[in-house]
Amino acid sequence: MIKILLIEDNPGDARLIQEYLCDLKNIEYNLHIADTLQKGIEVLDKEFIDIVLLDLKLPDNEGLTSVEQIFSVAPNIPVIVLTGLNDETTAINAVKMGAQDYLVKDKVESELLIRSIRYAIERKRSEEEHQKLMEQRIRSLAIIEAQENERRRISRELHDGLGQLLSAAKLNFGMIDFTNNSNKEKTNDIVKQVDTIISKAIIEARRIAHDLRPTTLDDFGLIPALRILCQEFSKITGIKVKFSVSPTLERIEPKVEIAIYRIIQESFNNISKYADASEVSLDLYRKENQVFVRVKDNGKGFDAESISKTKKAGGGFGLLNMKERAELIGGKVEIISSPGQGTELLLEINLDFFNNNNHQ
Ligand SMILES: Nc1ncnc2c1ncn2[C@@H]1O[C@H](COP(=O)(O)OP(=O)(O)OP(=O)(O)O)[C@@H](O)[C@H]1O
Ligand SMILES: [Mg+2]
Repeated sequence: MIKILLIEDNPGDARLIQEYLCDLKNIEYNLHIADTLQKGIEVLDKEFIDIVLLDLKLPDNEGLTSVEQIFSVAPNIPVIVLTGLNDETTAINAVKMGAQDYLVKDKVESELLIRSIRYAIERKRSEEEHQKLMEQRIRSLAIIEAQENERRRISRELHDGLGQLLSAAKLNFGMIDFTNNSNKEKTNDIVKQVDTIISKAIIEARRIAHDLRPTTLDDFGLIPALRILCQEFSKITGIKVKFSVSPTLERIEPKVEIAIYRIIQESFNNISKYADASEVSLDLYRKENQVFVRVKDNGKGFDAESISKTKKAGGGFGLLNMKERAELIGGKVEIISSPGQGTELLLEINLDFFNNNNHQ
């Protein structure tokens, strides 16, 4: 069923279009007619319309601004412009603005009108599909980029942290002169030093492993893992964290737990990098099958709306990845922030997503 909105003030022209549409075979349609732009916009507001046929000369509006006004209430709607013989230039400009097609009124006949409607709807659909594909590509790129960044970071930590400690241990070990028994004291000193270095290397290896996959999360669940995350974040940054959690939150699907953990971790990273905050609150609660997470800082905030519009989030991929992660588990993330207002992240997850989809 195609829902057509015809915005046309001339009753004769409207009747003619109606007659042409009778030839629309095999397709059910429903026609709304509005004789002013204002009335047309009201219909668009209330009804789900598939296509607009728009006369460019209306009593309350003339020319291209009416196309603009249609798009301002229904940005994705296919529009076919109807125009007089001497008005083709305006019609072409309407197409440049995003209208799908134009028809010169005196030359319209049934077949032409119907073909134009079909094409306009099809073209719009494939444009939307293309747009979706592009968005998916941007997201995949974001994931690949994030993986590469993560590898770079791990590589640096292995090289600069663990690698340096092991080199130092080896260097010290090489200084022991096993052929000379007389300098036992020096040998003992070196062995002690090597022992200290190896202990440090063990701690460093554990830290890197923990960053890769927090063992507390697997062994004890989300809440203890988050408690540790908060403590460490506070210790490193000096920012106070208030963590509150609804008492009934027992263990949930592991994929959901890790997603929540990573989203909060990225949000903490951003706070420590950008927010200049003195306090952060982390709230987690469950209501029936919904889990809600809120991370709020009292820092300097940023223009969240303009960053989300530019898709690639301000040069970084953190926010984009949070959204992607949330969507993969059937949840959604909202970032509320503006300069000077602090930043709030809201994450909402419906646990039924996993029960119903039974993801492997
Ligand atoms: N809590 C916050 N306070 C102030 N600004 C923030 C906050 N969180 C994010 N931002 C702003 O949003 C931008 C985008 O964040 P995002 O996490 O997507 O990227 P990034 O942190 O710059 O890079 P990446 O996360 O890829 O390392 C940041 O550059 C920063 O300007
Ligand atoms: Mg970030």
